[in-house]
Amino acid sequence: MSETLSLPGTVKAERRCPYDPPEAHRRLRDKGELGKLELPGGLVMWFLTKHDDIRAMLADSRFSGARVPFPAMNPEIPAGFFFSMDPPDHTRYRRTLTAEFSVRGARELTGRIERLADRHLDAMEAAGTSADLVAAYASPVPAMVISEILGVPYTYHQKFDHEVRTLRETGGDDQAVGAMATAWWDEMRGFVRAKRAEPGDDMISRLLHDEVEGGALTDEEVVGIAMTIIFAGHEPVENLIGLGMLALFQDGEQLTRLRENPDLIDSAVEEFLRYFPVNNFGTVRTATEDAVINGHPIAKGEIVAGLVSTANRDPERFADPDRLVLDRSHTSHLAFGHGVHQCLGQQLARVELKVLLQRLLVRFPALRLAVAPEEIRYRENTSFYGVHELPVTWAAE
Ligand code: HEM
Repeated sequence: MSETLSLPGTVKAERRCPYDPPEAHRRLRDKGELGKLELPGGLVMWFLTKHDDIRAMLADSRFSGARVPFPAMNPEIPAGFFFSMDPPDHTRYRRTLTAEFSVRGARELTGRIERLADRHLDAMEAAGTSADLVAAYASPVPAMVISEILGVPYTYHQKFDHEVRTLRETGGDDQAVGAMATAWWDEMRGFVRAKRAEPGDDMISRLLHDEVEGGALTDEEVVGIAMTIIFAGHEPVENLIGLGMLALFQDGEQLTRLRENPDLIDSAVEEFLRYFPVNNFGTVRTATEDAVINGHPIAKGEIVAGLVSTANRDPERFADPDRLVLDRSHTSHLAFGHGVHQCLGQQLARVELKVLLQRLLVRFPALRLAVAPEEIRYRENTSFYGVHELPVTWAAE
């Protein structure tokens, strides 16, 4: 294998530009090869980069989400933590949440998301003429939405978020990660116990008290479900807004086009999802049997990562794939994955992205980058790639 590969996120990836997937992954795709990485302990990990190969792998029940040996947080899959389960266990939990996260469910949340967005934009405006768009807007609004849906205090989410980031920046060891995870789980147990005793109008209370297919859920299962949602719904929207706005600031024509044509927002959101390589680690599975993907053998026990960012730029799937085309007509990107684990929160994510982008562009017509683009720091070692900060200004020029 001629390419030197590393685990996504462990080293700074070489990219043609900050909005492109890593070059090593693109080269593999263009050569039609699978990337192979030997992990400590003799584990083999394959990287899939082509759209059709990843779709095929994610739809194939021989590839398990339950037996992925990292992150090394929990050797046992906690009750209810359905992100790391295979059917039929996964199916039961996922079904209980379908209505909450349906298109209708997400639309019903629009008003709440708008109010949260406006509140943060008001605070930015009141504080002056410049801000870090990530800290002031792109990060807290989606986190508050998740907290409100679950019915947990935003401070819990903030603490969680802060600890995850600190841990990643300081490269915490497995023991530290384990201790922190135990503390998060324990705190969530406290919220669930309280809602068992006194239900509110939130998702955790509904899971505890409403009738659920297959019998009532235990407190511990509800804790696991809530943690899945905290883990999965926590960073991607923030990173997409940060990276997307940076790209628009650097391409004034596209920014003006989006600002002046609000009807473009739906296709623009879909194109943001396709174009920006926020998914850093890919969709990871373990082969439970020997299998062949597009002619490449994968042995039982080997790990496979579907690099959806590279797939979303696959020239065999998309015309002119490396160009951001705000009115592109397509629906077949893999940003939300595929198969049984396809993103549960995708309709919510679409509404959040739409509302956050629209409200921001309307509120600050002169919004622009406040520093030189070279000063921007990128998040490399997180599950979601993006910018650490995005200093912006809306002062009159
Ligand atoms: C732009 C935003 C988002 C992106 C790009 C995204 C992407 C993804 C991807 C690729 C997967 C599949 C992972 C895999 O197969 O291994 C996934 C699963 C999931 N996502 Fe999202 N997501 C986003 C927003 C959200 C939000 C806002 C929520 C809030 C609830 C959420 C909740 C989940 C859950 C619970 C799963 C696991 C589903 C399952 O295992 O059945 N996501 N997401």
